[in-house]
Amino acid sequence: MADKIRIKNLCKTFVEKSGETKVLDNISLDVKENEFLVLLGPGQCGKTVLLNILAGLDTPTSGTINYIKGNENGKEDIKEMKMGEIGMVFQKYALFPWKTVIENVEMSQKLKGIDKEQRRKSARNYIKLVGLENFEDSYPKQLSGGMKQRVGIARAYASESDILLMDEPFGALDAQTRYQMGEEILKMWRKDKRTVIFVTNNIEEAIYLGDRIILLSGCPATVKAEYIPKLERPRDYMALEFLQLRKEIADNTDLAL
Ligand SMILES: Nc1ncnc2c1ncn2[C@@H]1O[C@H](COP(=O)(O)OP(=O)(O)OP(=O)(O)O)[C@@H](O)[C@H]1O
Ligand SMILES: [Mg+2]
Repeated sequence: MADKIRIKNLCKTFVEKSGETKVLDNISLDVKENEFLVLLGPGQCGKTVLLNILAGLDTPTSGTINYIKGNENGKEDIKEMKMGEIGMVFQKYALFPWKTVIENVEMSQKLKGIDKEQRRKSARNYIKLVGLENFEDSYPKQLSGGMKQRVGIARAYASESDILLMDEPFGALDAQTRYQMGEEILKMWRKDKRTVIFVTNNIEEAIYLGDRIILLSGCPATVKAEYIPKLERPRDYMALEFLQLRKEIADNTDLAL
């Protein structure tokens, strides 16, 4: 498969009065088109900083990111991504509390100036896909954590971006809802393929979801290892191969995940 994102020698250092903090150290990584890539790393290692840079919400200290839009006659069309062009599911819901579910989901299309009828139609489609068709006119405060994150996922999909960045989207959910959401996100991805970068600190979640898992070290984050689970989907958490891979990854992590 063709490359969709090419990250080369990415570094990020925050400079503050109290001193410098190096958070990303020479991250190089290629992401394939329509791949479900998982970034697995311990708490505070720099996962959100990396995703924010990929989304154009922050800038790297050095290094480059190329987004490959297409490939014509063997020549790649490399695109500049502007802020807001990539769909992102945030670690902390980040919904507008004064807007309804459907208004939240259609936000990026509204900002692009797409007319109301068209963006409503598209928003309804994604709201249905995440199973919230009866909650279009509800406000975020009326929803459970899992439902709020479904809105976040529908909003990212509705941005029509072919790249979706998901920052520990299920981190705040209870274990049962977390398993269920994992299954659902894979179902959505199969129906409507996009290139997904999914961040987690949970080894099981990484193995359940990922076409490929990139293990990051503790802060500053570096690419420590890569794993490709050779397991049929839906993956069985109790299968021997699943448990073996889980142990292999756990033995290679810097800190308790
Ligand atoms: N704007 C900033 N200025 C200074 N330091 C920052 C800034 N943003 C993040 N950091 C530091 O970068 C490090 C990594 O933060 P980041 O939020 O990326 O971690 P994370 O891996 O997403 O953690 P978690 O799993 O808890 O979400 C932390 O030490 C944090 O304090
Ligand atoms: Mg984070």
